Amino acid sequence: MQLDSHAIADLPSQKRAAFVNSVTGFKSANLVGTATTEGATNLAIMSSVVHLGSHPPLVALIIRPGGEERHTLANMLATGCFTINHVNTTMIEAAHQTAARYPQQISEFDATGLTPEWHEDFPAPMVGEAYIKLGLQLREHQALEINGTHLVIGEIVKALFPESGLMTDGSLNLSACDTVALTGLDTYHEGLPVKRMAYAKPDLPPRQAQLMVKSPICAA
Ligand SMILES: Cc1cc2nc3c(=O)[nH]c(=O)nc-3n(C[C@H](O)[C@H](O)[C@H](O)COP(=O)(O)O)c2cc1C
Repeated sequence: MQLDSHAIADLPSQKRAAFVNSVTGFKSANLVGTATTEGATNLAIMSSVVHLGSHPPLVALIIRPGGEERHTLANMLATGCFTINHVNTTMIEAAHQTAARYPQQISEFDATGLTPEWHEDFPAPMVGEAYIKLGLQLREHQALEINGTHLVIGEIVKALFPESGLMTDGSLNLSACDTVALTGLDTYHEGLPVKRMAYAKPDLPPRQAQLMVKSPICAA
């Protein structure tokens, strides 16, 4: 099957969104935590988090068009801070429910039963049930001309994770930490490693590195 740009444009809007959201591959499943300047909490699931650079440690995410009714963006701009919390298998239902359009005065923490976790001098809540959680300071925000979405760039200033999930090369064993992946806007996947490859060099063939084993570091 093949779709050209006319065929994609002619799809019913919900099918088009489902197609484009899934055809771009597996995504990370994260809960973005924010608060108003008065400390009222907000939580929203986002699949658009990507690594932008590691020195400084920058992360980007895309927020849908809309102004004040986008509570996450409004809070980020007001406080300059937000958190990113990995969704794990124990909290998929609650995490997904945060996508519902609750009015501003209702916190998704209260609505879903997830626990706000505050850290000293940091004005955005982490998610108590998450095993991997990051605190970020807003570094850049751009409203993108092409479609009105917002590019938000944050710098990681706090990282909380189980020490046993940290591998000797410095990376986190996400599989052992029970982090899930997303396709589209509705399907949650367990992350099972298939192969681990050594750093690619032009004069060497592809070589396997030791595969990380899924030991249940974090699973309940
Ligand atoms: C699986 C999934 C992934 C999502 N990813 C994003 C995203 O990357 N960016 C975004 O703006 N909204 C995303 N959404 C929609 C938001 O979660 C939803 O609009 C939410 O109500 C925003 O909350 P807020 O108004 O409190 O910021 C996603 C929804 C689902 C179900």
